[in-house]
Amino acid sequence: MSKEGKSMTEVIQISAAEAVSRIRKTYPVIPDAAVILGSGVNVLEGLQNSIVLSYTDLFGHAPSVAGHSGTLTIGRLGSGASDPLVAVFRGRFHLYEGYSWDMVSLGARTVVEWGVPNLFVTNAAGGLNLDFNVGDLMVLTGYRDHLSPKWKSEGLLPAVMAPATVCANKQTEKLLTVGAKLAGEDSRFRALKQGVYAGLLGPSYETMAEIDMLRKLNCDAVGMSTVPELLVCQSSKTACCAVSVITNVWKPDEVMGGHEEVLEASKAASRRLDLLFRRILVEK
Ligand code: HPA
Repeated sequence: MSKEGKSMTEVIQISAAEAVSRIRKTYPVIPDAAVILGSGVNVLEGLQNSIVLSYTDLFGHAPSVAGHSGTLTIGRLGSGASDPLVAVFRGRFHLYEGYSWDMVSLGARTVVEWGVPNLFVTNAAGGLNLDFNVGDLMVLTGYRDHLSPKWKSEGLLPAVMAPATVCANKQTEKLLTVGAKLAGEDSRFRALKQGVYAGLLGPSYETMAEIDMLRKLNCDAVGMSTVPELLVCQSSKTACCAVSVITNVWKPDEVMGGHEEVLEASKAASRRLDLLFRRILVEK
């Protein structure tokens, strides 16, 4: 149920074309890149000559999970007319909240429809790789789709049997190259991790049996989003790449935090992510 007590399936659907037409009325220029931010991840504040649209005005509905403000900001990284123009979507809709696939993919579909060439997606994720630490940033080099609605009728076995999808594009390579440069230049910039992300439905965190299974499937992190955005962009002209903020690591003796802890760890990592995105956007 939503805040208004309505079933999520009753949320009025707005098409991506309608969302783009609403954006164009306020901002006629197509950005160089878009960013979709997950739980508590906040980057690219203080854009120049910016405009802000609420998700309510844009999509007809606002996200309800804490840490998601539900706004789109469009602005430039600097004050010059040739400085990179970025669209930052703060917040997303999740399947675990009861939203439809159309609704959870609407942000990415809007970016594609708008003709934005690059999309950076972020999420909060649990670390499965025991070399990971809380606050690490993991660039997705692949992902497993364990959340698409089709598995409800087919069962999860085909998802488990399928190989991971590789995230291979120039932006993913650039994330890794620029991340390595930053780590070499500044000792406070922790080296980036990379690995395979498993997208599960949630809303509960995983059982230990699921964690064991995901490790056997060579997954490095687990979360409840991002796969819809990657799937939408796969068959489009928008190059999509993704970064996970590791907010907890699945170790036998580790105490798991709740949503507050997730927000705390995301905040510390956001500063490094901010540096990374700004550098990527200015480097040709
Ligand atoms: N599992 C699923 N989603 C998450 C996790 C996790 O461990 N941590 C943050 N989001």
